[in-house]
Amino acid sequence: MNRRIQAPRGTYDVLGEQALARDALERHARTILERAGYERIETPAFEATELFARGVGESTDVVQKEMYTLEGGDSESITLRPEGTAPVCRAYMEHGMHKRPQPVKLWYFGAYFRRERPQKGRFRQFWQIGAEAIGSDDPAVDAETILLLAEILEAAGVRARLRISSLGMPLNRLRYRDKLQAYLRDNASRLSEDVVARIELNPLRAFDSDHPGTRAVMAHAPRLLDELDREDSEHFAEVLGLLDAAALPYDVDTALVRGLDYYTRTVFEYTSADLGAQSGVGGGGRYDGLIEQLGGPPTPGMGWAAGVERILLAGSLVHAAAAPLDLFIAYEKPAQREAAFRLTADARRAGHAARLELGGRSLKGQLRQADRAGARYVAILGDEGTSLKDMETGEQRAVEAGTVLHHITQVRL
Ligand code: HAM
Repeated sequence: MNRRIQAPRGTYDVLGEQALARDALERHARTILERAGYERIETPAFEATELFARGVGESTDVVQKEMYTLEGGDSESITLRPEGTAPVCRAYMEHGMHKRPQPVKLWYFGAYFRRERPQKGRFRQFWQIGAEAIGSDDPAVDAETILLLAEILEAAGVRARLRISSLGMPLNRLRYRDKLQAYLRDNASRLSEDVVARIELNPLRAFDSDHPGTRAVMAHAPRLLDELDREDSEHFAEVLGLLDAAALPYDVDTALVRGLDYYTRTVFEYTSADLGAQSGVGGGGRYDGLIEQLGGPPTPGMGWAAGVERILLAGSLVHAAAAPLDLFIAYEKPAQREAAFRLTADARRAGHAARLELGGRSLKGQLRQADRAGARYVAILGDEGTSLKDMETGEQRAVEAGTVLHHITQVRL
């Protein structure tokens, strides 16, 4: 016998209750975001590799080791998207969205790909809900987007804690980077090899380390938040003030680092204690330099993405019931199949949820099937004519062929 082929590691199939819960989550996200003026956007599943190399940052784990990159033909290198912000910024430029009233608010729900070690809550193909507001550096944009994610998490029954910080603008960050690098070099003997190797390339990641020696060193490291210039501090204070005004609790976390390089000023993350090691449900921040880095004019932006699997794992989303079935069409003999088929198509055209026997069952088997599917009515086409059974009352009566839809619509009214 041939070996059975399985889904690749780190991927999974969505079916049954999972599919219903996911639909419910997408509906919640759509309602909450579209009510706030967000428009749906979907970008391609793959992009030019350079978009992520330049956008997400050469020094990040995502670009260094997690991208699925392939030959796209036309001597072009393409990459399955590991995240959605750089693609949305590309689309913003490509469609001249800077000509529209700013900020342009866009949301998405789609699949993303990272070659990570699979574990609970971490997949190689995963789904994100994301929102990006491009074209304004108003602190109210930061606060509004953060609040919208809180609303979605609440609707999904996720209990999460908001951690927030500010990275300041790049110049400021460079100054701070020098200071942090000097501190790390002075303490190199107590740091993990990994962190030492990254002192030049990405010193901020040292805050992310699990290594005990590194953690002890980092507890006393200079904090970016203490080094912000006046404008950046004021911007951050205004964001916090607006979150206070909306009564959204948060913890300012000076050690918060994000895995992507494009962030400026506000960064935040929602974490849930119900998730285990992969506790980040969603996060994001401001990326005021990203569009320029991708070849556009200086344009501020702010957004977040949240992991669909993690929301469903941590949440208590009551999945919607399966769609009700108005009519099951059963028939006695193959001779009635054509008429049954026609009646099913007519019922669907008239807007009913209708199902036809497709498994070659006996009439008894078909009725059992209709009952199991929760059909409200069953039409039975037989040698003696058509009858209609009301599954709620159990009553069955002969009806004129061609009047079934009339009957079920009438009763429904
Ligand atoms: P990120 O923090 O890399 O940010 O991912 C956002 C969320 O996606 C995470 O909090 C997590 O829930 C989920 N996620 C990430 N990787 C995996 C994985 N391997 N398996 C399952 N879930 C995962 C971004 O992607 C940014 N684009 C967010 C953003 C938008 N920043 C500004 N705008």
